[in-house]
Amino acid sequence: MKNTGITVCPLSAYTGAEISGIDLREPLEEEAYLEIRQAINDWGAVFFRDQVLTPAQQLAFARKFGKSEEDTHVSNMTGVDGLPEVKEVLREAGDARNIGGFWHMDQSFYDLPSCFSVLYGRELPPIGGDTMFSHLSAAHDSLSPGLQRTLERLSGVHVRAHADSSEINSAASGLSFDYYVESCKRFAGIEATHPIIARHPETGRKVLYFSPVYTDRFEGWTRDESLPLMKYLTGVLGKPEHTCRFRWEQGSMAMWDNRAVVHYALDDYGGHRRLMHRVTVDGPWLEQSEKES
Ligand code: SIN
Repeated sequence: MKNTGITVCPLSAYTGAEISGIDLREPLEEEAYLEIRQAINDWGAVFFRDQVLTPAQQLAFARKFGKSEEDTHVSNMTGVDGLPEVKEVLREAGDARNIGGFWHMDQSFYDLPSCFSVLYGRELPPIGGDTMFSHLSAAHDSLSPGLQRTLERLSGVHVRAHADSSEINSAASGLSFDYYVESCKRFAGIEATHPIIARHPETGRKVLYFSPVYTDRFEGWTRDESLPLMKYLTGVLGKPEHTCRFRWEQGSMAMWDNRAVVHYALDDYGGHRRLMHRVTVDGPWLEQSEKES
């Protein structure tokens, strides 16, 4: 491969790498595209610093990796600059709701969830507001062969409205029960079922496709039956060794593969505004992992 001048610096043993030596305002050359793609396959999430991007430039970068998604009915996010695919992830200083404050993959409540997410920091709090990532293959590989075999047979039911519940989502403590009831009406029927163990179509690695909030239950199980095992899996995802933590600075951009990592927006900057711009793109989805008979 041609030397593009790109440097990839891993942040931890399994998850996340910083990429330097590239100006994302410029059209992405094929060689640079392939290096970034390889880094995402290796680390699940990549981070760029000191990038000065307009929403249109962010969108152009993201579109190199897939078709951008408009997603008209998902949430409280609005598009910017007449670009419906560039969504505001906004928390005003007084807002109780911290969008994405729990381990999740973007839009797992759809049959075909987003493949890559590209998040640019527009206005950042003076402290806090980091985003954490945890690698789903590291989580899978850490399980015993016996539990892996059990999970191979299970699917998870992912429910959109759970993001707005303080009962289910411990990070959403400021939300009222009425808000959740409204969300249940607004997002009724937005749910999808995915295998708990799946195979990444590019790396071939198995992943633990599970979100403590969006996954309501195992298919065919009640929620009460599912909760003890889901609680155990939540601990596996959150194991510090499986994670990395990204500290945002002016000009930072993160890109992650929703088939390979979960992410978590930390709720530790109360009283400050935080504005991010997010673009999601589609791509080949996870493959069914072979099932034991
Ligand atoms: C998201 O969950 O997509 C947003 C993450 C963040 O704002 O850090």
